Amino acid sequence: MTLLEAQSISKYYDLKNHRFGKASRFEAIKNVSFKLEAGKTLAIVGESGSGKSTLARQIIGIEKPTNGSVYFNGELQNFSNKKQRKQRFKNIRMVFQNPYDSLNPQARIGTTLDEVLAINTKLSSKERKRKISKTLNMVGLLSEHQYRYPHMFSGGQRQRIAIARAIILDPQIVIADEPLSALDVSIQAQILNLLQELQEETGISFLFISHDLNVVEHIADSVLVMFRGEVVEYGSVAEIFDNPKHPYTQALFSSTPMYRKRFPEFSRPRQIRRLESEANGCKFAIRCEYCGDRCLDEKPELFKLEQEHEAACFKVELKN
Ligand SMILES: Nc1ncnc2c1ncn2[C@@H]1O[C@H](COP(=O)(O)OP(=O)(O)O)[C@@H](O)[C@H]1O
Ligand SMILES: [Mg+2]
Repeated sequence: MTLLEAQSISKYYDLKNHRFGKASRFEAIKNVSFKLEAGKTLAIVGESGSGKSTLARQIIGIEKPTNGSVYFNGELQNFSNKKQRKQRFKNIRMVFQNPYDSLNPQARIGTTLDEVLAINTKLSSKERKRKISKTLNMVGLLSEHQYRYPHMFSGGQRQRIAIARAIILDPQIVIADEPLSALDVSIQAQILNLLQELQEETGISFLFISHDLNVVEHIADSVLVMFRGEVVEYGSVAEIFDNPKHPYTQALFSSTPMYRKRFPEFSRPRQIRRLESEANGCKFAIRCEYCGDRCLDEKPELFKLEQEHEAACFKVELKN
């Protein structure tokens, strides 16, 4: 069952150019589409600045997309509909990169969690207490931890608290925006395992934003690869990790030491050889080793390769 569907989402920001007084428009994401199935994990991969967090903000509705539609539980989301907004905020919860920034340092953990329940549910204070203890146990913490403040926890524990805050309302979806990036490598695996266990226990779906391919291979069912605000490749985790087709995805693998052995044929990305020529053409052209004239003039659409595999590249299209 499809829980969440994004159809051609774009978000443009107006930038004021103070020097010349002329406004310009920055396309942070353009025509991004995907589906998230119940109980599954969709990873969004791409270098910093590729629009991953912007996409998350449009999905949950913190910002209104410039164009495109979001369907949640089959229902088209009207971004000014307050009832739908409340439903979305309750059923789609976020976990951010830095758990210290996202927790109020002056509030005990129990207070922070209780606030979420008090605002979003009709539970009595006794029921809320029980729910808080249960949720803390679910993320591997103790009931008595609710009386402590954020600074009394390690980074990994704080991320567990952030996860507790996300799941305490029994949401259908958690959007995790680089949830491991601020943690020590040894702790990353623990948090990754916790997320997987929670998914097995509760059937929750994850939109998992990351630039770490190794983590993505571990947790994801399918993968969306973004470059400068656009989807360049989409596929099941098996397709992407066995048979990456887009030169950008290939470059990501070749710049990650542990995948270099798996894909010795992919060359390391070279220095930029071209000027920005991208008004009409492929955005990756400036870095692409296979770039031809057509790529500079025309934008490749996502081309279907397999049942669950698409890539936006003319090289791929020609081979089929
Ligand atoms: N409010 C905004 N105004 C202008 N530009 C923005 C705004 N938010 C994000 N951007 C730009 O959009 C691009 C994508 O940003 P972001 O979604 O944060 O990328 P990522 O999460 O993949 O690192 C960046 O170039 C960023 O500077
Ligand atoms: Mg981000």
